[in-house]
Amino acid sequence: MNLPDMKSAKMRNKESVEFIYENPIVNNSFSGQKYYIRTYGCQMNVHDSEEISCLLENIGFERVESEVDADLVILNTCAIRENAHDHVFGFLGRLKHLKKENPNLKIIICGCMAQERSVVDEIMSRHKYIDLIVGTHNIHELPNYLMNLNEGLNIEVKSNENNIYEIGNNFRRDSNITAWVNIMYGCDKFCTYCIVPYTRGKERSRKSKDILREVECLKAQGYKEVTLLGQNVNAYGNDLEDDLNFAELLESVAKTGIERVRFVTSHPWNFTDEMIDIIAKYDNIMPYIHLPLQSGSDQILKLMGRRYTREEYKELYDKIKSKVKNVAITTDIIVGFPNETDEDFEATLEMVNYCKYDGAYTFIYSPREGTPAAKMEDKIPREVKENRLQRLNEIVNKYSNMNNQKYLNKTVKVLLVGPSEKGEDKLYGYTETMKLVNVKCDPSLVGNIVDVEITDAKSFSLDGEV
Ligand code: SAH
Ligand code: SF4
Ligand code: F3S
Repeated sequence: MNLPDMKSAKMRNKESVEFIYENPIVNNSFSGQKYYIRTYGCQMNVHDSEEISCLLENIGFERVESEVDADLVILNTCAIRENAHDHVFGFLGRLKHLKKENPNLKIIICGCMAQERSVVDEIMSRHKYIDLIVGTHNIHELPNYLMNLNEGLNIEVKSNENNIYEIGNNFRRDSNITAWVNIMYGCDKFCTYCIVPYTRGKERSRKSKDILREVECLKAQGYKEVTLLGQNVNAYGNDLEDDLNFAELLESVAKTGIERVRFVTSHPWNFTDEMIDIIAKYDNIMPYIHLPLQSGSDQILKLMGRRYTREEYKELYDKIKSKVKNVAITTDIIVGFPNETDEDFEATLEMVNYCKYDGAYTFIYSPREGTPAAKMEDKIPREVKENRLQRLNEIVNKYSNMNNQKYLNKTVKVLLVGPSEKGEDKLYGYTETMKLVNVKCDPSLVGNIVDVEITDAKSFSLDGEV
């Protein structure tokens, strides 16, 4: 058994990262068997699930869309907030029941929750019917673990491995139009509320040649859009010798000529002028930036360890707005950080009123065991936090609606990605600025970038016609 260990997960060893170039195992070990995968959390996890699917299909598994039809169920979990935990343990109750009916059913827990000692302890004491726990550092070992599974609960979690596995480009993705491309793993920022640096390990960048080869290959396969993924893409390359920085990588990706390039997430700290210039210079780098604010109060920002002040954030925001034409900016905000006062909260509202975001993901602070903020005493009652969230959301929604109204009767370019839930004669897609649009059109247009006239604008989506 390899159990997770937060102390060792926190360490940042100086040794350089090992790059392991390895083709995944291909055989018929599990042919005829079916797997169901459920994914929680961020894009990183969505992309990991694609990789896991690829590994499983290589050893004979076939994908199904319901746990009821499966021989193997994989939960790719998220640890960012307590409610992510609750969802997973809720679903486990259902799986326990299924396993009683079908004792051959295998259940795997992977993702960020697998890296938490408290979660693994809980599974060991109360959910022994689970077959395997695999951490975020070693999903590429999954075929091996499955082929050599012992009776009972198997635990394979590493806390400080930090290598980079290049499994090649032969990779079936969920979409054949848009693709996630990891450019780096882990995070070294250690914002005091956040568990990611512990669950994902140290910041480590893929080599630019591997990233560019992947993008070239996607372009050749007909992909229209790539999204470069990292917890903090500005830090790309800091750990590599003689390689590109993020601005240079972004430029090289744009130069491949793929039609749309996006990236998430960029931290307001160290968002360089060079990055802004490159984003402004290339038409195929989309004018959409997710710029997490977290709080508008300097005191809270300091306690959060965010490394910028509200003035610095404003300055950056203004610079991006003035240099990148028609840019849309969204954000993340946490309310109820330990001892956030009314004045702190008002400062956050002020920032939202200043930035008039295109959209914002808003959260109530959730203490994560092992992080510095979880040890801070907090006297603010839950009702106060809920009330703040509600007030914040009202303002956030007002601005997303206002920003969307500007699109009414305009014609914009939309990449159509799939059938819309709003009717059979409709597809959905995204504008360059990442606005969701339901488009009345011929369904055969899926996968194309088309000119769409916007006929209706709501808070969270637009309607239009080709
Ligand atoms: N790397 C990204 C964030 C990934 S987590 C970045 O730094 O921007 C996504 C969002 O979840 C964060 O931006 C933050 O707003 C929120 N979040 C993270 N930890 C949280 C916690 N303990 N409680 C509430 N929200 C949290
Ligand atoms: Fe978490 Fe901060 Fe890293 Fe984002 S930058 S993943 S919020 S520690
Ligand atoms: Fe969640 Fe892990 Fe992503 S904690 S947000 S799945 S990096």
